[in-house]
Amino acid sequence: MNPAEINQWVADAKSAFAAAADLDQLKIARLAHAGDKSPIAGASRALGSVPPEQKAELGKLIGAARSEINEALDKRNLELEIIRDQKVLLEEVVDITLPALREHIGGLHPLTVIKNEISDYFLSLGYSVVEGPELESEWLNFDALNIAADHPARTMQDTFFIEPLSAGLVMRTQTSPVQARTMLTQEPPIYVISPGRTYRADELDMTHSPVFNQVEGLVIDKDINMAHLKGTLDAFAAKMFGPDAVTRLRPSFFPFTEPSAEVDVWFNNRWIEWGGCGMVNPKVLVNCGIDPEIYSGFAFGMGLERTIMVRQGIKDMHDIVEGDIRFSRAFGLGLA
Ligand code: DAH
Repeated sequence: MNPAEINQWVADAKSAFAAAADLDQLKIARLAHAGDKSPIAGASRALGSVPPEQKAELGKLIGAARSEINEALDKRNLELEIIRDQKVLLEEVVDITLPALREHIGGLHPLTVIKNEISDYFLSLGYSVVEGPELESEWLNFDALNIAADHPARTMQDTFFIEPLSAGLVMRTQTSPVQARTMLTQEPPIYVISPGRTYRADELDMTHSPVFNQVEGLVIDKDINMAHLKGTLDAFAAKMFGPDAVTRLRPSFFPFTEPSAEVDVWFNNRWIEWGGCGMVNPKVLVNCGIDPEIYSGFAFGMGLERTIMVRQGIKDMHDIVEGDIRFSRAFGLGLA
């Protein structure tokens, strides 16, 4: 052991501490250069066997070397602690400006949204919203509405008949039987709408579905004429398709209205077929116990899928019936 050697240990220790990139590496360097097995510790222990004339000088050198090594160690330790703390602060930083992760639990289907929209609108005009059963009597679905037994709508092709056939039950093919139900149970004046599900034996394709939805409208009061019908349809169309929408009536035939018309709506610079309407046929009023000499009325019926498809630019009926949550989110407006 000599002074040059001691200086070398100090230099080695200092460069090892400086080279330590983190606290773990510094711990290894400390064990090697300042621990019990380090050269400087060994030298301290060996001092006892050093000749007395060298002892004082070597002891001083070793003591100074140890404190220099410890000082360098403390300094590097402090530096590495600061670096570690800064790293932790950076890594664990919370960016409070990031958008929160929202859990979407669902969305209202566009059909639900439009039913609510239509109901709210007509309620605001003073109408009531009424409902009828989807499993309906053949008499209310057809006969009461003046649809004769030989009418094409009654053939097996269009209608889901329920067995046993003698029970006279069908899945309603239209919401119009709710007209008959309402007239049979309420006294005029009657102002009702009835949105709901309807059934026809059609294949599911781009524009058809065996299960679809309609909204029925019925007004029975004194002195009701076609101008009331036209004004109501124009206001309804503006509500559904925007303020520029107007309706056009084309002569048509429905057994339960006389006269009858197809309703077209002006939307996106073209006429779109929207539904059917007319003045309630006096025969239907009689069937339902209302005196046609006192009362008259109008009725209309529109497809809800069609309304959604036209106004929201949906091309394929499959999108409406498949129940994909992404579709409801995009077109259902009522997001959860
Ligand atoms: N029920 C008819 C259909 O499904 C639509 C309809 C036409 C309803 C004329 C009406 C109406 O109330 O007056 O095709």
